[in-house]
Amino acid sequence: MRVSAPLAERIEFDLDTLAGIVDTDRSGWTRTALSQVDNDGRYEVLRMMRGAGLVADIDGAGNVIGRLPGRRSGRSLMIGSHVDTVDGGGRFDGNIGVVGAIEMVRSFREADVQLDHELVVVAFFSEEPNRFGLSCIGSRAMTGRLRPADLDRTDGHGLRFGDALPTAGIDPSRILSCAMDLSTVDAFVELHIEQGPYLESHGSQIGLVETITGISRFRALFGGRRDHAGTTGMDVRRDAGCAAAGTVLAVERIASQSLHGKGTTGSLTFTPEAVNVVTERAEMVGEFRGPESGWLRHACETLTEAAHLEGSARNVTVDVEWLPQQEPVPMNERLLDVCAAAVDELGFRRSTLFSGAEHDAAIMAQVVPTAMLFVPSVAGRSHCPEELTELNDITAGTTALAHTIFRIDRFDRPA
Ligand code: GLV
Ligand code: MN
Ligand code: MN
Repeated sequence: MRVSAPLAERIEFDLDTLAGIVDTDRSGWTRTALSQVDNDGRYEVLRMMRGAGLVADIDGAGNVIGRLPGRRSGRSLMIGSHVDTVDGGGRFDGNIGVVGAIEMVRSFREADVQLDHELVVVAFFSEEPNRFGLSCIGSRAMTGRLRPADLDRTDGHGLRFGDALPTAGIDPSRILSCAMDLSTVDAFVELHIEQGPYLESHGSQIGLVETITGISRFRALFGGRRDHAGTTGMDVRRDAGCAAAGTVLAVERIASQSLHGKGTTGSLTFTPEAVNVVTERAEMVGEFRGPESGWLRHACETLTEAAHLEGSARNVTVDVEWLPQQEPVPMNERLLDVCAAAVDELGFRRSTLFSGAEHDAAIMAQVVPTAMLFVPSVAGRSHCPEELTELNDITAGTTALAHTIFRIDRFDRPA
């Protein structure tokens, strides 16, 4: 069965177009959420969707949503990903899932493939952790999982997230009430780059994601005393920077002691930033990830204890604030079987793997039967300018997505 033939040239053209809409003052391909280039990028996606024949608009949470009516009304299938990037990141993360979904629509229309289901293509708003420490904003809002407290989170300048939303064209008084009725959606399938080395090292063209990692993120504040760096004895200092540094190493130690767990300190700031002043205040932001929620809880408790030990050894106050733990999320087994059948029919080599990266699919899976298709990342690199997925792999992933959607539409509606 040949459902359609996505065109590599059009995928490449669209990826290049989005790669041209970036903050040129930053390294790599930078299009972080709540920036002008992210607004421009989402409007470009809107144009692409409309050009592909979708009825498209931007919802109250900044999600770009395109719809292709089905032959029978009432049920929908959803595909898509995100186009925001991390600062200094690559141009494939998220982007291929949006561009691939739009190309799939073009190829369906050219091959005169009509689905019974309505097809909904989404570019989710602000998937990457933004400067307020929040991720997957669009999918959380769509599923009714964004909380009022999220709008009160502040960035490094004390600006509230809710007050920053209008810069992205989002009305903060509406974002909490723009959840969609997803009860009519039979499946969500996200195509994404792997962002790790597994598929490449196993010679696989397609990855079927079994589980998406759990994540626990924290912000730790250390309060010490500002003193002269040249005259204050080492034994009487209350150096907040040293307490924070010890905690950074504790994150590494705790994660290194586990088989699959990961631990990262993403940011560390000292106040004042002066070489001749003992640090009065340090702020650290970090996370643990892993497929087991028990380990995540253990890692959080151990890290909180370690931070307090580092603080008490220096008479430094410690405040560790944890965001609610995101539990590991399994993908829908029935949908995975459909993906496997579609991939096998196409003759692609496949592996089943765990996703260490966060995805909108983990949010959607809480409401809708969800699956993810991965394509290989060269040398496993991602969130860096060197991030690369070969065009033929992206095209293969798009073909696998098309065949999966066609199968679900015709034969396999996951319960
Ligand atoms: C998103 O890419 C994440 O895993 O942080
Ligand atoms: Mn992504
Ligand atoms: Mn990412």
